[in-house]
Order: sequence, then C-alpha cells, then structure tokens
Amino acid sequence: MSEHPPVPPGMRYDERRQFLLPQGIVARNLAQHPLFPRPKRNSRAAAFDELAGNTTLGIHLSQMAPGGTKPGHRHVDEAALFVIYGYGYSEMKQADDKEVQRVDWKAGDIISIPSNAWHQHFNGDPDNPTLQLAFKNTRWLRTLFGSRDFVYENDFRFHDRYDDEADYWTRHKELEDGRIDANVLHDLANEPLAPAPDYGELVHMNRYRMGGHYMLDFSIVEMERRGRTRAHRPLAEEALYALSGRFRTWVWDEDGNENLIEWGEGDMLTPPLGVWRRHTTRGHEPARYLLVRNNFLNVALGNPDDPLRTPIPNRYPTVIEPDYSGYEEPI
Ligand SMILES: [Fe+2]
Repeated sequence: MSEHPPVPPGMRYDERRQFLLPQGIVARNLAQHPLFPRPKRNSRAAAFDELAGNTTLGIHLSQMAPGGTKPGHRHVDEAALFVIYGYGYSEMKQADDKEVQRVDWKAGDIISIPSNAWHQHFNGDPDNPTLQLAFKNTRWLRTLFGSRDFVYENDFRFHDRYDDEADYWTRHKELEDGRIDANVLHDLANEPLAPAPDYGELVHMNRYRMGGHYMLDFSIVEMERRGRTRAHRPLAEEALYALSGRFRTWVWDEDGNENLIEWGEGDMLTPPLGVWRRHTTRGHEPARYLLVRNNFLNVALGNPDDPLRTPIPNRYPTVIEPDYSGYEEPI
C-alpha cells in the first residue's frame, strides 16, 4: 500500500497503477488538479482514463520535480504531451546508434512522441516543477494485444514515422489532405487557424498529423464570440482541453439524458462516445480548445479523413452479386 492523502469524492485511487482517477465528463482547472504520488515514475499524477467511460483514449497529468527527469524508454503507444506549466526539453532518437535530437518545450506547447521511438524528458527549471498532460492510446493497444510486453518491449521500429530526420522538430507543412504535418506546436493559444464553416458558425480550425500517428488525431478549434459548432456525434473517444475563453456545451443522448456544462480555460471536457454534443462560446471573448481523438475506428472503417462527421459508412451495396451470366471458362 502506498501512502496517499484521502481520496476526494467523485474520484478513486488505483493502487496498482498508482493513479488518482476522477470520474465524470469534466475535469476542472488542471493546473491545480489534485495529484497523488506515483513512485514508480518518480512523479505525482492523476489519470483521466475513466472520464466518460473511455476505454481507448488514455489521458494523464504528470508532475516532474524541479530539475528532475524520468527514465528514458520506448513504447509502441502513440503519445503527445501538452505542457500546462513549467519548461524543459525532451531527447529522442530512433536508431540506437544515432545522436539524440533535442526539443525544448514550455507551457502552452504540445510535443508528439512517435510510436516506439526512444525518448526521455527533462525539467529545465531547477526551482519549479513541470506539469504535462499526456494523451496516449496505450489502453487500447493493451486491450487489443493482451500484452504489456508488446507495448513496452517491442523491437519493431516505425522508420516511416520517424527516422532521425534533421527537420523533425522544426517542420510545419500542409499535407494533401489539408492536415498540417508538425511534431511540435509552440504556443497553441496563438497558432493561426483556418476558417472551418463545415464545423459550425464563426469557427476556425486546423487539424494536425503529429508524430506520424495513425490513431491519435489532433485539432485546434476556435470560436469567435457567439460562435457555435453544429451538433455532432463523432465515432471516436475524444478530449477537449480549453486553451482560452469560456464555453457552454450541451451533451445529450437518445435516452433523454441531457446536460449543459459550463467550462473554460484550463478545464478538460470528455463527452462520452455515442453522445451528441454542441459547443458555443460564453461571454464576449473568442474561445479555443485543443481536441484530441483516438480515431482508430475511422481508420479501420476506411473514413479517417473526416474527423468531424465520422458517420458509420453506409455500405449497403448497389450490387448484391456479380453478373456471372456472360462468363465462359477459357479453354
Ligand atoms: Fe513515454
């Protein structure tokens, strides 16, 4: 049994994983969120894995001590880290015989860790802790393959996702599908965004390919004053972290469950899978959030390019069986 403070109402503590686990669909003020010691990672942490009943999108908060580091490692899970406070750097490489590549980060940045690349994080501030919000697909991989070792002790290298390229941490270019290929984004709150009338009124949005990830999908969405998204029901577990401003979100399902949630800068919202949702701004300022999805279902179903509608594809065929009537076996 590890020593830990009393568990607040609406949360539970998982002794084995050493995680404090809030329940519900909104977590408030992550910069001040309760954290419990996590000796096995030399950190203090809370995990949002159970918000919304999620089972495939892993999310956790991890605080690194002043001047601290965490052991370097590899894992097959796709990962991205948003920095809530503090500054530091990470070292990364693919091939064992390559020099590490360093990327510096600070509050408001997000970095991606490509699948199974070696990496290590360092707190650059000798006097203050850092706080990172990590998004991962670990739980889904472990459920799918039933093996912790497959995720953490895997010799395969995804050279197509990261191959120690010199421009890995600096590139920021538009892909043919409209996404932006970038592996680190600095200052998300001020990243320029493109108009996105398909998503709603007075909405701006970019979608990113980060870390060469296949499943984890990243967007930044901003609504002008009185902006609103249309109602939508994505085929993916998702989390929205408010970068600025204030929001009003409606969530409802076909069983008559309905809630209005007011949330804003520093809060995280995780609408449950299969539930309709609609977001509007509140107050006079524009409002912006980071949207992270585990998009694996859409990838598997062959419609990964429409992250906002993501309907189940209509596969009712126009042909029930091929016409064999004119076919003759060649002699
Ligand atoms: Fe890691």
